[in-house]
Amino acid sequence: MQQQPARHSRETRLDMYVDRYASRTRGMTASEIRALFAVASRPEVVSLAGGMPNISGLPLDTIGSMVHELVAEHGTEAMQYGSGQGVPMLREQICDVMALEGIEAHPDDVVVTVGSQQAVDLVTRIFCDPGDVVICEAPSYVGALGVFRAYECEVVHAEMDADGLVPAALRDALAAAAAAGQRVKFLYTIPNFHNPAGVSLSEPRRREVLEIAREHDLLVLEDNPYGLLGFDEEPRRALRADEAERVVYLGSFSKTFAPGMRVGWALAPHAVREKLVLAQESSTLCPPSFSQLMISSYLAGQDWMGQVKQFREMYRERRDAMLEALDDLMPDGTTWTVPAGGFYVWLTLPPGLDAKAMLPRAVTARVAYVPGTAFYADEFGSQCMRLSYCYPTPERIREGVRRLAAVVEQELDLRATFGVATKVQPRSYDTPNTDLT
Ligand SMILES: Cc1ncc(COP(=O)(O)O)c(C=O)c1O
Repeated sequence: MQQQPARHSRETRLDMYVDRYASRTRGMTASEIRALFAVASRPEVVSLAGGMPNISGLPLDTIGSMVHELVAEHGTEAMQYGSGQGVPMLREQICDVMALEGIEAHPDDVVVTVGSQQAVDLVTRIFCDPGDVVICEAPSYVGALGVFRAYECEVVHAEMDADGLVPAALRDALAAAAAAGQRVKFLYTIPNFHNPAGVSLSEPRRREVLEIAREHDLLVLEDNPYGLLGFDEEPRRALRADEAERVVYLGSFSKTFAPGMRVGWALAPHAVREKLVLAQESSTLCPPSFSQLMISSYLAGQDWMGQVKQFREMYRERRDAMLEALDDLMPDGTTWTVPAGGFYVWLTLPPGLDAKAMLPRAVTARVAYVPGTAFYADEFGSQCMRLSYCYPTPERIREGVRRLAAVVEQELDLRATFGVATKVQPRSYDTPNTDLT
């Protein structure tokens, strides 16, 4: 009997569509640390890894009544398709929220999205062809890097220090792209309480970054989900407040209200806004009416600013617990950033240690973090890790840091006994990044 090798080999493959996927799916890979995180979510492990907002303080009974009222009074609107740009009333309220950061905007220029994550996706979709350059801070938000990879962009990192993005590094990145004949489509930046670096862009640097944008005709994508979560200060002035034509601003209700609502937005120059609405329509037809109306009535009828204040106080207490524990327990040579808001501390291990290689040992010691390499498009950051203080209680945070410090001590002992086990990477910010502390 004649054999049919091709068919047979296809059927025994794990994924019979493997040779049919679009080339852009090559960038869509599951994180190699995902399996470890399954272990890390066990209750005995203190997870300093996840960036989930801690919404245990939300008034769920009140929200339940709001749902009931919304369905009773506006049920057919809430259950129906809506405008691709978003509910007009909510867009007006979003303008009031942005006014807290000095932004004067018209609701016509706001596009509601499915979380700010979708806004990053839509902006990239309308601007980037494969091979186009996006400049990102080093490190940068892992979810945005995933989007840039999915659209086959080339990410060029620009360094940060304790005052956020270093303007000279931005100039260098622009010059390098120009010298290579590459087109920079935009700068992606998180100016406030950075994920993962925990730092914020200083006032003088905000001006300088905008000057550079004007000089180089550079579009800036300002991603600001944590802007209202500063611990000791009024909200900082947004880049968009001083430059309407060159900045696309992204906001979100995920950290100030509830991520499950999946409502964010983009504020864009008029022409860009039109393209974003078209992209939104082809992506989802419209953002969810139900969530938008819920958020709208929450903003109109509840003390949402009071709730944000409570969130800030809860996160500040957790930040303090983490910083105190790090100060008390971490071995010499370890450095970390001191966040003034948001969820994250960026920690740099003593020279020669590798956060990714160390992770299985940390999980065995019942503590988890995210290795720094997850936040780079180019495999740098191995000496660093992101620690989140947003979710565990202060006591658990201290216990997590105690376990982590013990693992780092062990690694240092191993290194003293057997020498440097990990390869030393050449780029300057992979040696102890004291600038970032
Ligand atoms: C910097 C940054 N941008 C965007 C997002 C996405 O947020 P969402 O889609 O929930 O608005 C996150 C979530 O953690 C984030 O940290």
